[in-house]
Amino acid sequence: MKPAFTLGRMNHLGYAVPDMDAAIAHYRDVMGASVVTEPFDMPEQGVKVCFVHTPGNGEDGNGTAGTQVELLSPLDGNSPVAGFIAKNPLGGQHHVCFEVPDIEEARAYFDGIGKRILGPTRIGAHGTPIFFVHPKDMMGMLTEIMETPEETH
Ligand code: CO
Repeated sequence: MKPAFTLGRMNHLGYAVPDMDAAIAHYRDVMGASVVTEPFDMPEQGVKVCFVHTPGNGEDGNGTAGTQVELLSPLDGNSPVAGFIAKNPLGGQHHVCFEVPDIEEARAYFDGIGKRILGPTRIGAHGTPIFFVHPKDMMGMLTEIMETPEETH
């Protein structure tokens, strides 16, 4: 029997960082990342965001694009990431993000089995719709569900 939900590709891991410039320097200079995107602000989420690419097996579009690390730093004291940094001053893993083919179907699935969804479905940092599921319903992990972006098909 086909399961009601199928685990999709891990799109990214979200890491909260207290200092974006220091985090970028770490991934470039210590970890040898060759692609780190320019940071940009997402004021509605209260965060500055950038992506560190890890290699995949299909950068030519025929395989799987590499998973990313999403670096998140708070824009102000009100952002949820600011609360995370207050508890974890060095930063750390904030969330995990899995792709789904259809965001509405996925939302209806999690909702239907009683998982608490945090807020409305909205456009995420990749420009595709996302929502978050409460860590208390997800084995302690804040889980982002994202409709698969075009460039990773
Ligand atoms: Co994310």
